[in-house]
Amino acid sequence: MERFYITTAIDYVNGAPHIGHAYEKILTDIIARHYKKRLDNVYFLSGTDEHGIKIQKTSASKGITPKELCDENSAKFQECWKALDIDYNKFIRTTDDYHKSAVQKIFKKLVEQGDIYKNSYKGLYCQGCECFLNEKDLTEDGLCPNHMKKPEEVSEENYFFKLTKYKDAIIKHIKENPDFIVPAFRANEVLNQLEDIQDISVSRSISNVTWGIPVLDDPEQVIYVWIDALSNYITALGYDTEENSDDFRKFWPVDVHVIGKDILKFHSIYWIALLMALKLPLPKHLLAHGWITIDEAKMSKSLGNVIAPQDILKIFELKNADALRYYMATAAPCGKDGNYSDDDFKEKVNAHLANSMGNLLNRTLSMLVKYFDGEVKSEFKTDASILNTAKNTIDIVKNYFDNFEVAEAGNAIMTLVDVTNKYVTDNAPWTLAKEEKMTECGHVLTTVLDIMCVISALIEPFCPNIARDMAKQLSFNLDIKYDDLHVDNIKVGKLISKEDIYPVFLRMDSELADKSTKKK
Ligand code: MSP
Repeated sequence: MERFYITTAIDYVNGAPHIGHAYEKILTDIIARHYKKRLDNVYFLSGTDEHGIKIQKTSASKGITPKELCDENSAKFQECWKALDIDYNKFIRTTDDYHKSAVQKIFKKLVEQGDIYKNSYKGLYCQGCECFLNEKDLTEDGLCPNHMKKPEEVSEENYFFKLTKYKDAIIKHIKENPDFIVPAFRANEVLNQLEDIQDISVSRSISNVTWGIPVLDDPEQVIYVWIDALSNYITALGYDTEENSDDFRKFWPVDVHVIGKDILKFHSIYWIALLMALKLPLPKHLLAHGWITIDEAKMSKSLGNVIAPQDILKIFELKNADALRYYMATAAPCGKDGNYSDDDFKEKVNAHLANSMGNLLNRTLSMLVKYFDGEVKSEFKTDASILNTAKNTIDIVKNYFDNFEVAEAGNAIMTLVDVTNKYVTDNAPWTLAKEEKMTECGHVLTTVLDIMCVISALIEPFCPNIARDMAKQLSFNLDIKYDDLHVDNIKVGKLISKEDIYPVFLRMDSELADKSTKKK
């Protein structure tokens, strides 16, 4: 039985969601929706990462308990994903009881089999990364390169995981599976990081951190965030050291973990070693996406340029998230950094979704009504050569998704829109009608409408609402499976009446030009 399991990173809940978090969830949702068209069993997991010193400190500064802070912020993430039409099967919170107890069992198993041992430790700890850093990872000024803060010197007795024991096996795995890390150029970075890895600290003393999952049989220690967080991918399926849950047996190993490039090390090294220690099959792919900047600057609270996804919807008066989904999904080639700017957003979605795609459907249907009273006549044929281009696009998009190249797939769909627009311009059905070449005019319109059905199916994972409105006006069944998607979708007979035609995406109004997500 073919099945597909996909996950996002679980977000820290010491703040509210921003468009960097949203970028990842949108990419993942689009991949999941695409695979749902190909397979019956797709499982999409997302969630929130709720333990650690940052939550402890933020909640203390607000005068609330850590759990209260987690509840408040986890709800914000879930509301945001709802507004963005992120359609996961399950949302895990690392404060869920089943997760905590499974993590304790996993930890205990690793202690019992000798993969985790206790030792005293002195090191440089970065609170932002929630991990110890090596001297050589720091900037020239001794700062953490991700957070530009000086790590604290920490000395305590901790549990350690024998990462070094798995070093050679991980190197071998990465070298033998060139498609394991996507995009492939990141594999070298990981191989370099592997060169000087050490055993890692996997617990903290409660004298330093109290907000964590306690180590069973050792209440002085809490399990350090990465073992807790990474395990979510299996505990969510019901794994708790026994492989006895149906979902675990059905969906593990994961097809792809979608994560940011900043946490690739944790997934390609720590997580793989943990799975090796648990003698579990390894993930098939790790998709490391790039970083989203705002107006080309890194998003940060101190710069005051953090954008909440819902603010974009509100400010541009969008009734759903399709435009933002499309924009974010195509913001950067696979694995590369991308940028958000209000002006570019407005310009791009107006051009692509309203002017090119939406307008193409609208004027073609309007011509069908004007010249043929909305009826597709039996003598109308379709144009094989452009339909071939549409057929190829179906394969091209599928290939891109095989490699998780979401932006590339989106661009290929928009290329088909452009080619179809050019076909309309070149064949000028309005001129054919004027010259009373009605059958030829009908050929052109039927061909375009046929392609629009294909486009609605292809764009659905990106823009589910627009696709639904397109399909409705085309009387096309969007539930079609990918393999059944062909180019003979328009049936002879009455297709539409004038009053049933409406624009699928309204241009974002020019008077909104001055509106900006930037706080004034
Ligand atoms: N909690 C960890 C992940 C544990 S996964 C077992 C974490 N949380 S995070 O909230 O800091 O980041 C969550 C995800 O959002 C990560 O994949 C991270 O790369 C991504 N992003 C956070 N800011 C981002 C941008 N500005 N741009 C793109 N993605 C970004 O790391």
